[in-house]
Amino acid sequence: MDRIRIVGGNALNGIIPISGAKNAALPLMIASLLTSDTLTLENVPHLADVENLLRILGNHGVDISVNGRREHQDGSYSRTVHFTCRTIADTTAPYELVSKMRASFWVIGPLLARCGQARVSLPGGCAIGTRPVDLFIEGLEALGAEMEIDGGYINARAPQGGLIGARYTFPKVSVGATHVMLMAASLARGTTVIGNAAREPEVVDLANCLIAMGAKITGAGTSTITIEGVTSLSGARHRVLPDRIETGTYAMAVAMTGGDVTLAGTEIGLLDTAIEAIRRAGAEVSAVENGIRIIGHGDQIRPVDIVTEPYPGFPTDLQAQFMGLMTRAQGVSHVTETIFENRFMHVQELARLGAKITLNGQTARIEGVSRLRGAPVMATDLRASVSLVIAGLAAEGETMVSRVYHLDRGFERLEEKLTRCGAIVERISD
Ligand code: EPZ
Repeated sequence: MDRIRIVGGNALNGIIPISGAKNAALPLMIASLLTSDTLTLENVPHLADVENLLRILGNHGVDISVNGRREHQDGSYSRTVHFTCRTIADTTAPYELVSKMRASFWVIGPLLARCGQARVSLPGGCAIGTRPVDLFIEGLEALGAEMEIDGGYINARAPQGGLIGARYTFPKVSVGATHVMLMAASLARGTTVIGNAAREPEVVDLANCLIAMGAKITGAGTSTITIEGVTSLSGARHRVLPDRIETGTYAMAVAMTGGDVTLAGTEIGLLDTAIEAIRRAGAEVSAVENGIRIIGHGDQIRPVDIVTEPYPGFPTDLQAQFMGLMTRAQGVSHVTETIFENRFMHVQELARLGAKITLNGQTARIEGVSRLRGAPVMATDLRASVSLVIAGLAAEGETMVSRVYHLDRGFERLEEKLTRCGAIVERISD
């Protein structure tokens, strides 16, 4: 299994190209199941989760062609992928595939809308909490579907003539359930109004792509989304939005190590709350043409308290990285996780680097230390793993991060991007 070796202590300087967002690419790819025409997605990141979903979509009958990567001068590249699903070959999403990645469960929406039935295994994914599917079940039931759990699978069946538009308000904000309702309601009969919808930029990106495919959607990005069902959707060409979590991760790395980095191909407006927290911690962040410039001061990090919340609040997917930054703050900070009940796996690993963190329920108290020292570490989820990488960049000596396959799920060419900015980071394949 691959490991990543980091020798900490170098400031980061240069340009880091930001990839297309994993969490936008996944639902956009799934939307290809809604049409028999070709959906073309540009800026699709090359990540383990994306490759896994390509296999799953292939299983459902999607014909996929990937256009070679285009290298740009700043080291970035983008992939364009064409998806054509003339007919759905299989309405079952099996356990072996769905258990690897929670987002693949979302195929339930398009399969049900287009074929009137779906049999989808209950999902797996990162070990960050129980992550039930009750909101998906309730939402699709509101559209008239019959949902039944049987042998680890959900059997879903639309009423005769297809799903029926309805008013449904989520009792809790869910990104995935909002994606699924958007896709399902786009092909339902009549109008659907989703209340307490997720407002994440990735939801807006999916809605924009569906609109380009002929869907009638208003209100994406607000808590109330209205969808007027249409009888069919067509193909479209859509560019995946930049990855705000990758953006925030590298911004926090620079805030921690010091240096001057331009994050290219991203937008400051995608992560206002996180940028505000990074600024309060003492880094200078500004919007520049086609990106964000960040100047970090390394040793003068101020303590900042954060609480994770649905968008536009502080993202749970940046919580571990921010905690990494706070381990070197000059004072005490608090990080409260409200989205997932078990998303503190990085705490004991950061402690191995010398961090002083105590947990009290869903809040971590971090007492900043003047230096971290490299150590062997590992993590059991994607964002926790990358928090160890950025802490390792700021630590003295060598940090060895194992279980790198978590990083490969969500960070494209991580070692290369960091190395180009002066970090000492290498992948070791055993
Ligand atoms: C998406 O997961 C992201 N994944 C996650 O990123 C992200 O952490 C999360 O949204 C929150 O922002 C993708 O986009 C692929 P939710 P999702 O449904 O949709 C509970 C990463 O690292 N809930 O918004 O699965 C759930 O347990 C990943 O890239 C129910 O109770 O998250 C959680 O507590 C990790 N019942 C809360 O809602 C349900 O039926 C929010 O989860 C569904 C969710």
